[in-house]
Amino acid sequence: MADSGGVDIKEPLPPGSESDISFSESEIDFVNYDGEHHLPLIMSLVDEELSEPYSIFTYRYFVYIWPNLSLLAFHKGRCVGTVVCKMGEHRDTFRGYIAMLVVIKPYRGKGIATELVTRAIRVMMASKCDEVTLEAEVTNKGALALYGRLGFIRAKRLFRYYLNGVDAFRLKLLFPHPDTSLFRSVNENEINEHHQHSQ
Ligand SMILES: CC(C)(COP(=O)(O)OP(=O)(O)OC[C@H]1O[C@@H](n2cnc3c(N)ncnc32)[C@H](O)[C@@H]1OP(=O)(O)O)[C@@H](O)C(=O)NCCC(=O)NCCS
Repeated sequence: MADSGGVDIKEPLPPGSESDISFSESEIDFVNYDGEHHLPLIMSLVDEELSEPYSIFTYRYFVYIWPNLSLLAFHKGRCVGTVVCKMGEHRDTFRGYIAMLVVIKPYRGKGIATELVTRAIRVMMASKCDEVTLEAEVTNKGALALYGRLGFIRAKRLFRYYLNGVDAFRLKLLFPHPDTSLFRSVNENEINEHHQHSQ
């Protein structure tokens, strides 16, 4: 999928617009948080799709301190997905944390969330994180499947963790993970393949 800086931002899709949209992977642009003009885009996606309400101060806390860990996915200038993360010391570890992840309905099932998350995890790995954690509702089959596929384990069940009364699983990805190749950039993979061929 393509990396692109300057995108022409459009309004979000109207709520309830659920029909599938056909697009090729190369049409999706992934960009880092790049200023206040991105904030309403992130907020409208998260407010629409996640059960927990967040104040603007919470959003700003994440995106101001870790803009390199907040990514947006655009299709033809329309924001179709976002991930918001942070990292820092936690007890004896340096830990990455995925706070919010959303892809709008017509764009789901095409690998956009996987790409957003793996890009953030690559930054965490490069920053020498020991692990990555997040919480997901125990009923959220899609998110649990997505993170399970990426190698996250269920570390803990948190009773009535969310304001809506639902329990959460704390998911954890430990580094070095046996399949860290998942999080290598294309270029790194190419370099490694090149090395193998030239030996
Ligand atoms: C969860 C969510 C982010 C997934 O976005 P997405 O772009 O559709 O995810 P991907 O296409 O990258 O999915 C990758 C894998 O995750 C799993 N997956 C994703 N959605 C799934 C679903 N609804 N049911 C079962 N498995 C699912 C599959 O294993 C999928 O791989 P496959 O397509 O090869 O089967 C999206 O459904 C969403 O925004 N949901 C609402 C918000 C939310 O729950 N966020 C997560 C909070 S922890």
